[in-house]
Parts: sequence; C-alpha cells; structure tokens
Amino acid sequence: MNIPFAHVSIGGNELKYITEVLESGWLTTASKAMKFENDFAEFVGAKYACAVNSCTSALHLAIEAIGIRQGDKVLVPSLTFTASAEVLRYMGADPVLLDVEYGTGLVTPSIVKDALKKNSGIKALILVHYAGQAAVMETPDGEGILDICRKNHVRIIEDAAHAFPTKFNNKYIGSFGDVTCFSFYANKTITTGEGGMLVTDDEDIYKRVKIMRLHGINRDIWNRFTSAKSSWEYDVVAPGYKYNMPDINAAIGLAQFERAEFFREERQRCAEYYYKALCEVPDFDLPECYGPHEDHSWHLFPIVIKPGAKISRNEFIEKISERGIGVSVHYKPIHQMTYYRETYDLISKDYPNAEKIWQGTVSLPIYPDLKENELEFISSTIKSFF
Ligand SMILES: Cc1ncc(COP(=O)(O)O)c(C=O)c1O
Repeated sequence: MNIPFAHVSIGGNELKYITEVLESGWLTTASKAMKFENDFAEFVGAKYACAVNSCTSALHLAIEAIGIRQGDKVLVPSLTFTASAEVLRYMGADPVLLDVEYGTGLVTPSIVKDALKKNSGIKALILVHYAGQAAVMETPDGEGILDICRKNHVRIIEDAAHAFPTKFNNKYIGSFGDVTCFSFYANKTITTGEGGMLVTDDEDIYKRVKIMRLHGINRDIWNRFTSAKSSWEYDVVAPGYKYNMPDINAAIGLAQFERAEFFREERQRCAEYYYKALCEVPDFDLPECYGPHEDHSWHLFPIVIKPGAKISRNEFIEKISERGIGVSVHYKPIHQMTYYRETYDLISKDYPNAEKIWQGTVSLPIYPDLKENELEFISSTIKSFF
C-alpha cells in the first residue's frame, strides 16, 4: 500500500468556482474573496473576517494591529509550529515559551496563570488549539484561559491553524478571543493551496488589518480598479504588507468551505477507528479529548510512544515508512530550535511535557478520503510493531 500522510479532498465546486474567476478576467482579490470572508465570519460567529495569503500573515497582522511592538513579551506554547513564535520577532517582540499539558498538547488555564505570576508585563498570549481541539476558553467559575487573560489585561490571539471547524461549549473557535487566525495551507482541514483567514469582533483591529494587508493603502485594490470615480487615487497611511488572498485561492476556499462539516465528520471517523483499534496497545498514549468528538476538527492524530516501549519513535517512523505509510511529527518544540534556544538561553527541563511529547510523538494519517481498509492496514501494521 501507499498511504500518504496528508491528502487533499477535491470533489466539490472547486473547478466551477476557479473557472468563474478565470472567466471574470479578474484573478486577484475581488468578489470570491469577499464572499469567502462574509460566509466564514457568519459561520464562526465573528463580526469581521479578512482573507489573507497564509495563517502566518494573519498572525503577523493580528499582533501588529493589537499593538505588539519592540521588547513586548508574549506567551506562546513551545509545542507549536515556528510561525506562532516567529511573527513576534518580526515586530521585535519576545516570545515567553509555555509548557503544555501532556495528554492534549494544549496550554491549560493553570499554565497561563502560573506564567502570569512568574513573568511581569506580559502583553498577550498566542493560544494554539493544538491538533484541532480547543483549549479551555471559559469555565463557569471564570477560570478559563479567556477569563484569566481578560482579568490580567492580556490580549489573546488564537492560532487556530488546526482548528476549523472546532467548537468550545457549543461556540465555534473564531468567536472567542480578540483575534483568531486560521490556516488554509494544503494539508489543513480546508485548503486554498496557501491561505489564511483572520477574524475579529473589534472594528479597530479589522480596519487596521485591512489597511496593513495591502501595503498600508487606504482602500482595496478591488475598489481602486472597479469603482467609477477617481479610481487612480489612493493614499498610503502606513508601510504595510502584501498579504491579500487572490480570488483563484478564494474560489478553492469557498468550495472547500461548503464541505467543511463533511470533512470534519470524515476525520472524526478516522480518529474513532484509531481509538478503537489501538486502545489496547500499552506502549503508546493516544491523544486525550476534553469534550465530544463532534467539537474537534481532527486536523492531527498524534500518538506518543512511551519511554521504554519496544521500539522508539524514530524506529517506528523508519518501520512504518518502509510499509508505505506516511507519518509526521508535531512538533519539535520551539525551545529546541537553534535560533530560539540560543537567543533566549532556553533549556529543555523547563518544558517537561513538551519535551516528553516531542521525544515520543508521531502523527498518523487522518483525512476524509482515508478508507476503512487503509485504516485497518495502518492499525494492524502499528500493532505488529509492539
Ligand atoms: C500551529 C500553526 N500555526 C501557524 C501555522 C502557519 O500556517 P500557514 O502555513 O498558513 O502560514 C501552522 C502551519 O502549519 C501551524 O501548524
């Protein structure tokens, strides 16, 4: 068999919408991107959405709009992709890395509380909904991550690269923090090839992001070329970036968005297969799930091979690859990356859970087109190793 780690499902209106864009004669940001923004904002329950060319751009625009600047300190989990931390360095701000909970890979309310006690002057938290599961945002006793941040005047930027569509307490991620950033990279739960979406309820953040997304120009290029009056005139109010999402990508995104809940259900089917098939193997831990499986987007299914297991993580990857099954690792933590380790003098023992996860973790294939016989082959192959 040849089972890739990730595989994109194209089978909806992708070609139809792309053709509409090609026939319109306007390939960059226009009506498809605007429709994608409106539909997306309405779906997650946010007032405003801005389509951009990656989640990294969305995170950069978010921290810029919130006012993170040189020397500001911002909390970020160590168990994440480098984009979550690097955007802080774009602004000259400093990441303060957090450990995560072992079973879920998530930052918990008590981790945030402790970090705020230990570090003075924290401006914001970049909160990663790892693997597609929501972190504990709110609790009835006011001790959720959002509650703690609000009480301490710490802004929250949610890195929801893995978390569409994900719910917490029956509300979609995208309707909680100050700003939420989604990824539509090729292996994500819905894709535009490359792309991202920033959502917020804050009108000031939205206005700033819209300007900075396109060179700091005070009107959309779309308006500039299509409006009847004085189309040549625009002003530049800040040195912005070039982060807009072209309509070709938005066309793919709209078609994927229409099938997002179906994709999520299919990913859940894969996760439930693994839970059932692999639950009796004592050599590794399966990912823990806080709430109903329906709330999880199931972007990743990371297992953690325990120390002392019959084979190590690296041997596991070698053996499973030989059988034609693609896997990946999420993540080598930020505190292990040369740039961050050397710049901030980081040591592994300060992040014991992220370290334990990193030593043993491997992410199994999980995507809508994964068939029952492939799930069976993956599971029986894994069981044969132990
Ligand atoms: C947690 C996390 N944040 C941010 C990103 C960046 O997303 P993009 O590739 O859309 O810039 C990724 C990408 O994999 C990610 O996993």
